[in-house]
Amino acid sequence: MINYIENEEHKVAILEINRPDQLNALNNSVISAIDRELEDIRQNKTIRSVIIRGVGQKAFVAGADIKEFQEFNQEEARSLSVKGKECLFDKIANFNKPVIACINGYALGGGLELALASHIRIASETAKLGLPECSLGIIPGYGGTQRLGRIIGIGKAMEMILTAQMISAIEAKEIGLVNQITDSENILLKCLEISKLFHRTSPESLSAAIKSINSCFYPGGSAVESEEFAKLFDTLNFQEGVSAFLEKRKPNFNQ
Ligand code: COA
Repeated sequence: MINYIENEEHKVAILEINRPDQLNALNNSVISAIDRELEDIRQNKTIRSVIIRGVGQKAFVAGADIKEFQEFNQEEARSLSVKGKECLFDKIANFNKPVIACINGYALGGGLELALASHIRIASETAKLGLPECSLGIIPGYGGTQRLGRIIGIGKAMEMILTAQMISAIEAKEIGLVNQITDSENILLKCLEISKLFHRTSPESLSAAIKSINSCFYPGGSAVESEEFAKLFDTLNFQEGVSAFLEKRKPNFNQ
């Protein structure tokens, strides 16, 4: 269901969702498999970041698996949403390492929600993005109604969700939904390039920055920032970063 590739040079784990015949739709097995991999990656000090992509040319992820949930009742639907967030979407958003969504095709429904939960979104020129749930008689249930507006503003989020229309990669870039676009052939290279930039930073800083940035939407966010800022002063990497600056050399951070 998913492929795990470790790229030593880039110190990155690439998670590939491998259901191209179903446009990489997210079913229970895929979500559980990613959940397990993320738990291992979290502890693995040699890995600095994660890239998530879909296998094949056509889709990143075309949504939650409609065939799997078509017979669900209210209770099962609630559990699908809550568990999915716990095991995958919120786990990624709050992960201790940066996660890059490599959007190499359709990112629809749960696929776009997966990208929204990621910290950086890179799309191929041919990608199409949307939250079409209202056209299925539901709404986004994996964080889409919560995260989209924070990223692109409530006005555009309303438009995308209520009209259930897809937008192009170019439009997605214009409204700040994706960070960068690139041609399909080079999209993984672009993501790898970005992952290499993290090598010049302290891993504890990245983890603290993700936590602090995420806290900006909640009361007490500023206190979280101060606490995370303060904790870093006890790390060896803070000593190294500051010493390197004063000695006019590149820092050599502990991983
Ligand atoms: N869940 C389950 N299966 C899906 C799926 C999804 N979200 N998205 C695509 N598939 C399956 C199709 O059912 C089809 O399977 P089949 O060959 O067994 O019939 C296969 O993937 C290929 O999709 P198909 O629709 O034939 O490709 P297409 O090029 O004609 O259209 C899309 C591509 C993305 C426009 C279309 O598949 C689509 O609209 N998918 C659903 C998007 C969606 O509503 N996502 C939100 C879900 S909450």
